[in-house]
Amino acid sequence: MILEALNFAATYPLTPRRRRHEISSSVSLWARSRRAARHWRTHEEACHQEVSAIVATLPNTRRAVAVLGSGLLRDVPIQLLSEQFDRVYLYDLQHLASVRIWARLSGLANLEFQTRDLSGMEQLAEKPGAQPRPLAFLKEIPDLDLAVSANLLSQIGVGIGRMVAADPTLPRQAAERLIAAHVEGLQSLKTSSLLLTDRSYEVIDKAGNVLERDDLMKGVELPPARAEWSWTVAPYGELSPDYQAVHQVVSIPINAS
Ligand SMILES: C[S@@+](CC[C@H](N)C(=O)[O-])C[C@H]1O[C@@H](n2cnc3c(N)ncnc32)[C@H](O)[C@@H]1O
Repeated sequence: MILEALNFAATYPLTPRRRRHEISSSVSLWARSRRAARHWRTHEEACHQEVSAIVATLPNTRRAVAVLGSGLLRDVPIQLLSEQFDRVYLYDLQHLASVRIWARLSGLANLEFQTRDLSGMEQLAEKPGAQPRPLAFLKEIPDLDLAVSANLLSQIGVGIGRMVAADPTLPRQAAERLIAAHVEGLQSLKTSSLLLTDRSYEVIDKAGNVLERDDLMKGVELPPARAEWSWTVAPYGELSPDYQAVHQVVSIPINAS
């Protein structure tokens, strides 16, 4: 609790005023990632392997890479990206002070932390009839050689789904449209990209009964996956002593050689 409070307090002045209400959810994610580290390890290793594999397909001149949903920097091999690329752009609603301090102490001088809402909800709310293009900004990055969407897409779906449920003036299909727009945004890049996302989850009790399951992509069809694995996001004891939440994760290379 003390570490969480310190991280919150240190992050507060680094965060734009209108994003400060999101600090607590990032601190909660950070705390959960520490509690569940043992259960998350195979998932994180699989993510690292997938990112390393796509980096290996690129020509040797590796200029800029963008990580979408970079958050805690756990599921991208950040040291490798920092060594292999001239510039590493990190986009998330929040980068905690603990993450920024760790990066500085680790000597990763070419990381650029960018606070950004990647959902496209603002565009969609402004012009509900137009096709949202939440990733169009990536085309403005000079010399971008790779984009990695790092377990962000399901969170966009969940976050927007909650907003729509709470506000009847928002477009009803917003979550589905923004999930599709994210995938289209990656597909429209001239560079290679990698989409890592949990696409569904099950809540399972100790007898193996599935108590709940849902499609985190809300019916949006994804391109074919190169790899797939399970991620115990909430092991027994995290949400309840009686059940665990297991997510199904896919790795989808796009425009990759
Ligand atoms: C499951 S976490 C993935 C964490 C990260 N890839 C890592 O390695 O630690 C999802 C991340 O998506 C971010 N996120 C959720 N909605 C977002 C949005 N609309 N725009 C930008 N980032 C968002 C959260 O802040 C969080 O860091």
